[in-house]
Amino acid sequence: MNSTPMNNDNIRKNLSGERILLVGGAGFIGHHLALSLRSYGADVMVSDNLMVNHLVNHLYSNISPIQRSLYRLFLETRIDLMRDAGVHLRNHDARTFGELSLDFDEFSPHRVVHLAAISSAVEAKKNPGMAFDLQLNTLRNTLELVRLHKEQPKQIMLLSSSTVYGDFSTPEVNENTRPQPKGLYANIKYMSERLLRAYRDHFNIGCTIIRPSALYGERCVSRRVSQVFIENALSEKPLPIEGGGQGKLDFTSIHDLIDGMVRALAFFQPRSNTYNITFGHARSIADIANIVREVVPNAIFEERPAAPDKPIRGTLSNLRAREQLGFSPSFPIDTAYKLYCETYKNLWHQAQKSLSS
Ligand SMILES: NC(=O)c1ccc[n+]([C@@H]2O[C@H](COP(=O)([O-])OP(=O)(O)OC[C@H]3O[C@@H](n4cnc5c(N)ncnc54)[C@H](O)[C@@H]3O)[C@@H](O)[C@H]2O)c1
Repeated sequence: MNSTPMNNDNIRKNLSGERILLVGGAGFIGHHLALSLRSYGADVMVSDNLMVNHLVNHLYSNISPIQRSLYRLFLETRIDLMRDAGVHLRNHDARTFGELSLDFDEFSPHRVVHLAAISSAVEAKKNPGMAFDLQLNTLRNTLELVRLHKEQPKQIMLLSSSTVYGDFSTPEVNENTRPQPKGLYANIKYMSERLLRAYRDHFNIGCTIIRPSALYGERCVSRRVSQVFIENALSEKPLPIEGGGQGKLDFTSIHDLIDGMVRALAFFQPRSNTYNITFGHARSIADIANIVREVVPNAIFEERPAAPDKPIRGTLSNLRAREQLGFSPSFPIDTAYKLYCETYKNLWHQAQKSLSS
């Protein structure tokens, strides 16, 4: 157990001046992490090929003009915020060893965070070869560069997923629950965890594994259920409520996740640990649909049968992160998701107005 007070002063003390490389760092999680790390005085480089959930996908996809305008705004704002915060951005493909090695040579990172992936189980299933490549080939190059670099980084952090647990057999799981990943995305994530641990054991590389769950927050363009619901409500399309909306997810605000990740970097202990960084209290799909209806009172709910291949989920205990990192999530959906929906509604109406003028 760490005896240092795990407060903001010590986060700053431990991270100030640290060079932290984010592989796949221009995405939803990565750009929020980059901004937060900069606010604690870290030197941050983002390496990203801008291939997943970026401009080209969205400008060419079959979404409405309002969505296109909003997504363009979100993506441009990410880049503007990172530039203004002094984040170094390199447009490199981490599948290519030579490209990623340019970043290691230029930046000589003290720590590396691996985020590159097709970041959705649904999308990964549509394009398995690409899902494999973007997660595992980028991880292979990251691990090899960490192993081989003359000043070996002291920590590598991997973004895994709550899906590694598979179907929950109890309402709550913790990091000691045996993973039983189902499907391609979950298995690729679990393989990544195992490869990271093998590198840790063979080459004495410090490693941290983060398992987030059902994230939502500003500037996300990934269209997870929390975003689909507010967008459908605003476009007068029904919200698909599967199986009576009783399915539960541990919805987590991006701000809580980032706080947990920053703590796992700042209070890293040599060797390794795996953390659920979640709000720690699963809520039903019906709960988030009802929050959407508080913001958009005429939202239409459409009952659908439960999807047979959807995993049965629940709460991911965050006790270990609370005890070892001083993590204390503070964004419950009742206020934080509601605020997200209210902000989304305002931005939506602004985009609508400017498109019709
Ligand atoms: N958002 C969530 O709810 C969630 C939950 C659990 C786990 N995760 C994991 O966290 C990580 C980040 O998720 P996100 O929500 O920020 O996803 P995202 O799609 O917004 O970001 C992924 C980033 O990786 C980049 N990338 C992909 N292939 C690359 C390559 N070959 N070289 C360089 N960059 C590449 C993409 O361009 C993108 O910017 C992913 O590994 C994802 O699986 C996300």
